This record gives sequence, C-alpha cells and structure tokens, in this order.
Amino acid sequence: MCGIVGCIGIDYPVEYLIEGLKELEYRGYDSAGIAVMDEEDLKVIKSVGKLKNLEEKIKKIKFKNPYMGIGHTRWATHGKPTELNAHPHKGQFGALVHNGIIENYQEIKKKLTKEGIEFISQTDTEVILRLFEYYYDGDALKAFKRTLDEIEGAYAILLITKSDPDKIFFAKNGSPLIIAKNDGKFYFASSDAPLIGYANSAHYLEDGEWGFVENKLHLFKEKEIIPSFKPLPTNKESAKKDGFRFYMEKEIYEQFDVLRENTLGRNTKEGIKFDELNKSFFEGIDNIIISACGTSYHAGLVGKYLIERNAKIRVNVEVASELRYRKPLLNKDTLFIVISQSGETADTLETLKMAKRKGLKTLALCNVDNSSIVREADKTILLRAGIEKGVASTKAFATQVMTLWMLANYLGGINEYDAINEAIEAVKVDVSKHEKIKRLSKRYLHGHGFFFIGRDIFYPLALEGALKLKEISYIHAEGYPAGEMKHGPIALADPGLFVVALLSKNILYEKTKSNIEELVARDATTLTISSEYIEMTDDFIKISGTNHPLVEFFEMMVITQLLALEVAIRMGNDVDMPRNLAKSVTVE
Ligand code: AGP
Repeated sequence: MCGIVGCIGIDYPVEYLIEGLKELEYRGYDSAGIAVMDEEDLKVIKSVGKLKNLEEKIKKIKFKNPYMGIGHTRWATHGKPTELNAHPHKGQFGALVHNGIIENYQEIKKKLTKEGIEFISQTDTEVILRLFEYYYDGDALKAFKRTLDEIEGAYAILLITKSDPDKIFFAKNGSPLIIAKNDGKFYFASSDAPLIGYANSAHYLEDGEWGFVENKLHLFKEKEIIPSFKPLPTNKESAKKDGFRFYMEKEIYEQFDVLRENTLGRNTKEGIKFDELNKSFFEGIDNIIISACGTSYHAGLVGKYLIERNAKIRVNVEVASELRYRKPLLNKDTLFIVISQSGETADTLETLKMAKRKGLKTLALCNVDNSSIVREADKTILLRAGIEKGVASTKAFATQVMTLWMLANYLGGINEYDAINEAIEAVKVDVSKHEKIKRLSKRYLHGHGFFFIGRDIFYPLALEGALKLKEISYIHAEGYPAGEMKHGPIALADPGLFVVALLSKNILYEKTKSNIEELVARDATTLTISSEYIEMTDDFIKISGTNHPLVEFFEMMVITQLLALEVAIRMGNDVDMPRNLAKSVTVE
C-alpha cells in the first residue's frame, strides 16, 4: 500500500516530506520521491530502494525558497519498481502522487497517445497527470475536475502545478487521504502517523471529496462543503496500526481493500485479464505442479480444486521442502507454479531453480516485486497485498486464493465476475461477529487440542485455520479432512477436544454434517461455522446463505483468522511476533 505526504505554507517542506515518508516506511515500499515548489521552479527527486537513497540525492540539491511539496512511497503494482515508475510523476508543468489503481487507465492512455501525448512510465498513475495537462487551458481547478470526472477506480491524489503555483490539489476515492492543519499550515498524509507532532486536528476525506489548499482549505463534493476537523491520535505506534491492537488484526480488516486492489483490472465484466500473462505462455501445458510452504501451500491446495474443476488441468501440490529432495519426475509439459508472500522462502526458491534447470515454464504468485523468486520466475502475478507485517499470514493468503481462483477461470475461460465481487464483500469484518468471537474464545483456552475439519476446498481452509491458531496461540491444532476423522482421530473425542467444523451449504453438506454429529455424539466440544444451524453443536457462528462455495470460503476464512487472533490475545501472546517464527524463512 503506497504512502502519500504533502504540505503547504510551512518553512521547511522538504524536511516534513522526508520525515513524513519515514513514518510511512512501515507500509512497505520499493521506491520513493518528492516534488517541491521552489520559488518558480518545480523540483522532482526520486529514487529506487530505501529512503536513504532519496535523502542522498536531496542533499545535492540547492533549494532557494521551497514553500510546498508532495511525497510518495511506492509498493509496485502496475510496472516494475524503477525511477521512471516511482512517484511523483512529472509532466510538462506539474507533478502528482497517487495511491490506488486507475481501472480505465489503458483507454485514457490510448486516447492521449492518439493526441500525440507521450508516456514515459508503465504506470496507471501517469495517466492522471497527462490528462490534467491535456485539459489545462488556463484554469487548473477546472482541468483537475475534468480529470477526476474521467478517471475510474481507487485513488488518493496530490497534484502541484506551475500553472497554479500556490495551490495543492487533492482528491480521494477508495484510498485513504487525510488533511491536517495547524496555525494556517496544512499537511497531507495517507495515514495518521506522518501528521502526529505537526498538527492536532484533521479532516479524514470521504470518497468523492476533492479540492485544493491555498491559504485555506477549499473542499468540494458536488459543491463546496465545510470540512469536519477531528483531533488526531497522539500515539504514533497505535496510529501505524490504524488503532488496532496488532498488525495482524489490522491486516484482517484490510482484506476487503486488498482484495479490491488484487482484482482491479483483472476481474472484469468480460472475464479475467492478466496484463502479466498471455495465453501463448500456457501452450503445450498438460499439467501443473504448485510448490510452496506453510500458508502458501494451503493456498496452493485450494488452487488444485479450482484449476482442476474450472480449467480441467491436472494439478499436483507439493510441500517445497519435500519436493526439492525427492528427485521428482519433471516434464516440460508441466507448468511449475510457486506461491510465496515474501518471495524469499529458501525451500520454495530452490524448487523453482530446480524446475528451471529442467526447462519447465515457471510462474510465481508473489507479494514482493524484485524478490528472489520474482527475479527467478519466467512470469509473475503480483498479489498486491501491500506489506504484511504480521508473521501469521492473513491478507496475503486471501490474495493468493483469490489469484488462484482468477487464474483457474482465466485458464478455463470462465467468468465469475459477480461471485468474485461477492467474495470480496464477504471479507468485510462484521464487527458484531468479531465481538461474538472475542467472547466465545474464552471457552477454547484449556482443551487438549483442536481439530479444524472440512471437505473439498474447506479442507485446505481447515489446515490454514489450524496453522493460524497454533502459530500464535501455541495451542496444538490440526486441520483434517472431515471424512477422515473416523479413521483414527475420533478416538480423541471427548469434552477436551475442540472441533472447529467448516460446514458448507454448497459442497458435501450432508456428509460434513454427519461427521460433525459423530463428534457431537462422542461429546467433543464443537464450534460449527455455517449458514445452516445444526442442533447439538456447542457453539455456532453463522455466515450468509450464499450459493457460492468460494464466498462461503472467504467468510469462514475471516472467522478462523479472528478466532486465532482472539484466543492468542487471551493467552497474552505477541500476536505479531510469535515465538520461534520469522516472517520470511530464508534458511532451510
Ligand atoms: C504463515 O502464517 C506462516 N508465517 C508461514 O507458514 C508462511 O506461510 C511460510 O513460511 C511461507 O512463506 P512465504 O509465503 O513467504 O513463502
């Protein structure tokens, strides 16, 4: 998730911009930049990599009298992390920073190219600035409004221009943007942290709000409106977690925004599109191997069901640490897919290198551009989950499964546009349900372990739910195929055995229901997650009565994530940094 800062009317704008960008580093980025109005000169300085690279460049600049500026940290989604693609983008007479994705950027780019306008980056963002300058005819505000009326998608924008050098233009739709003020000085940021210590009150822009700041704030929706300034938080650490208790909790709540970003430009009314791929890449492919570890492996297991069902291509899913030493039979008609949030997991990377040595086509589903795995793979689909701070993966898992669903439909020529959007809605956290899970969790602290059970795609979800719980609560938990309980594990059934049952209404409902009843009959303590209430279960968490199993999947996923979170919090554990674990396992 990119970071935005801006300021006007202060004595040292460059210092604020750099300090502000440092407060946004926690959001993760691979390039950064600032644009400063320095008397009549518009200076744009950008760099790839860490902020210190940008600071080194800035030290070499002789500023005369800078009085306003904008800044940005970029997490690559459209276009590689290069200086050209870094923000702020510089035009003929303006500079702009943007967070979000412009969904109709290709058609605007095509229109402007026909008008002879040249583009120098691969990004969707540059289109906004080029469109503004295309419409500019002496009235910057009018040109800005015309631009906003034409672009579609999610955006938080700051724009400065020599054509109107005393204003910062801003707009917000779908991506966060805040305006803070203090004694006639105005500050902008995409989250609270950069504002704390500079200002004490802020207006949190709503979707569709836009305007400019000169000596004062001019705020519009349909017409000019009065801003509502609220006190800013005073604690930066809490602000970085957006007020949540842990980054993991914040990242569970972020899943709605993250899945929108993951599917933007990909899940379209005409079907699935991947800018990164072309159908010829899959010519001659007879089967697929997916190699991954941990949570990413669980996502791969879901992918097996979806790709075999929707694309009719055989899939084998492998634990990377086993695959790399097994001397597997690898043929060139196999597409080798690796899934990795970090892009640095040693076992997964080694299997990728092994496949490449054997001449297989390779595809990475990864969250970190320019990571080792991305650099090694022939093709990459970026997950666009933004930085994931919690060691226990949540939003990355959600984007992995969503990307595999889109890939299965891309390969199978299937369009489930509405179902995918319904699934995105399904990950919005229902706060009252979260409250119920928080209360319920006190009953699940002192058993002799958990079984998470499910069938079909809910079996990998059971594995993932069990992993989430054990890695942050340190209570033993196993994921198991519901139909397998009677082949041994049911011997464990007693009141101290906690069973979390994922009961889909749409897939093998009766079979799974009877598995639950077998456990209830043997007095196991059961928590059933379903749209269909069943008698005798000890606890029950209701989900919507959707008719699509993947919508059920995403609803249940959020519940299992919140259950793990609340049990771990009751255990007093460090949810974000569980003992013995690292965010990226770069060793064998
Ligand atoms: C997930 O909650 C764990 N942190 C871990 O299993 C992780 O999924 C695994 O180490 C793979 O990491 P990767 O996705 O970065 O390759």
